[in-house]
Amino acid sequence: MYKEAKDFIELMYDELGKDKQEMTRRLEQIYAEIQKTGTYWHTSEELTYGAKVAWRNSNRCIGRAHWNGLNVVDARDITNESTFIHSIEDHIVQATNNGKIKPYITIYHSDHPPRIYNNQLIRYAGYDDCGDPMEREVTQLAEHLGWQGPHTDFDVLPLIYQMPGDKVKYHDYPSEIIKEVPITHPHYPKLQDLNLRWYAVPIISSMDLKIGGITYPSAPFNGWYMVTEIGVRNFTDSYRYNLLEQVARAFELDDLKNTSFNKDRPLIELNYAVYHSFRAHGVSMVDHLTAAKQFETFERNEHKRERDVTGKWSWLAPPLSPTLTRNYHHGYSNEMRDPNFHYKKKSHSGCPIHSS
Ligand code: ARG
Repeated sequence: MYKEAKDFIELMYDELGKDKQEMTRRLEQIYAEIQKTGTYWHTSEELTYGAKVAWRNSNRCIGRAHWNGLNVVDARDITNESTFIHSIEDHIVQATNNGKIKPYITIYHSDHPPRIYNNQLIRYAGYDDCGDPMEREVTQLAEHLGWQGPHTDFDVLPLIYQMPGDKVKYHDYPSEIIKEVPITHPHYPKLQDLNLRWYAVPIISSMDLKIGGITYPSAPFNGWYMVTEIGVRNFTDSYRYNLLEQVARAFELDDLKNTSFNKDRPLIELNYAVYHSFRAHGVSMVDHLTAAKQFETFERNEHKRERDVTGKWSWLAPPLSPTLTRNYHHGYSNEMRDPNFHYKKKSHSGCPIHSS
């Protein structure tokens, strides 16, 4: 742990141009604390900078140009249940910011945090016959705890959590804090009949944040959506909402054989609809071409500071017109650097009922 702490502290003092003597004193302090307690406590400056660098190092993320603008909430002292729920709802409200989305992270205690069972704080339930198939396991857990949704395609799941030493519980959010956008297309009124909608803010709550050898298992974080995440992946992936055929029909494209190119055509218009619906409702969203441009700026800024950019090509190339972006045309090293966000090992993230 000390080795990882030292790497991080050196990086931070170096990048922020901080006093090297102070750094030596801080390292001695951390060393002694680890000797005595087996761990150490980040200062709020370390926590804040560590979370920002974790975003900067997230190889799958195309939005990293904004890494230094992350708002970090230190919630390490929260042990009370209602304070915890309030802090989660406050994250949702502050990050939503009436539609002008702000990147936020709320970080709970590293060793005995409230546990969050949701993949994202806001997500739609998945049932055998409707909803988001990706969320079936979480939905079953919610139902096992006594939750019952109205059984539509877009039931907002409750928060599923566990305070240290307590049992797993659920909490329904007040509906007025969950901003959602109905999807319409100005030139194809039939799209409206599908009653598609999506929530405004993607807040990932299933990853570990690791800074300087310390793992924070509960640290929900968000940016804003890139249009294709919803318009290509969530709506049309065959193992998600699988809506390609229905959307094509709404656009009067009935012949879906490969050589009619009518599988490709609706994707463009659906993404146009998602983007303009979000904007019409005053909700931040970035299109894939602008996001890729911003990523180029990020790469340039990093190179100026003599840092090289790691990345996962298959995630950085957007799933719509990828060849129109520069990052399609070159490779990236997918080396993982800490601070970073890590997927949980399955045994820690699975359903508490069905895992044995
Ligand atoms: N792809 C995920 C979703 O569709 C969200 C991942 C995070 N995305 C983001 N723009 N910060 O819900």
